Amino acid sequence: MRLLGIGGSPRRGGNTDLLLAEVLRGASRGAEVKTIILSDLNIAPCQHCDDCLKTGDCTTRDDMQLVYRELEAADRLVLASPLYFMGVTAQLKAMIDRCQALWARKYKLNKPPLGDGRERRGLFISVGGRSKANQFWPALATVKSLFRTLDITYAGELVFPGIDEKGAITKHPDALKQAYLAGQRLVENSPAG
Ligand SMILES: Cc1cc2nc3c(=O)[nH]c(=O)nc-3n(C[C@H](O)[C@H](O)[C@H](O)COP(=O)(O)O)c2cc1C
Repeated sequence: MRLLGIGGSPRRGGNTDLLLAEVLRGASRGAEVKTIILSDLNIAPCQHCDDCLKTGDCTTRDDMQLVYRELEAADRLVLASPLYFMGVTAQLKAMIDRCQALWARKYKLNKPPLGDGRERRGLFISVGGRSKANQFWPALATVKSLFRTLDITYAGELVFPGIDEKGAITKHPDALKQAYLAGQRLVENSPAG
């Protein structure tokens, strides 16, 4: 089993990175794990050229080509992003928008979006500086829309409000433990949940 973790925060070693690392640590006994940090990559925004509608492939040649390959190879996906103006970061949104090519595979070309029909499951992790517990819904809506498009079963989310300074997540009573356990659960061979 392969698990791909995708980190959307540009603040290296920040709260999102710490949580993502714990999820992957929890998963690492049951899966081969790989992390991609989007701010290390060069991923242009979707230009809506519609080339992908004919082939299901994106003709923009940048690091997204690597991400497509990793998404196809993964059985489990963990997306992680802090809240930026209620949504995911620009780095993650650019990656999500470039998945329009995978939307085209599915809805225009009648092909499996990730190349085969194997069961895939995905988790979303987020933090936000404000303390409002219900502020994550716009980001959740975006991520759920992506997972639905990619035929990835939504396995839930871990979201932590009131986490602002770099490293603040380490002072939360059990966030890192929750992340570790979520990683363990995600690679268990039980039905989605
Ligand atoms: C551009 C920007 C926009 C932000 N927008 C929000 C927001 O809408 N809601 C919120 O709760 N926190 C917001 N924050 C705060 C971050 O979500 C918070 O600092 C978080 O802990 C950063 O996570 P990181 O350490 O993983 O980068 C914003 C921060 C930045 C830099």
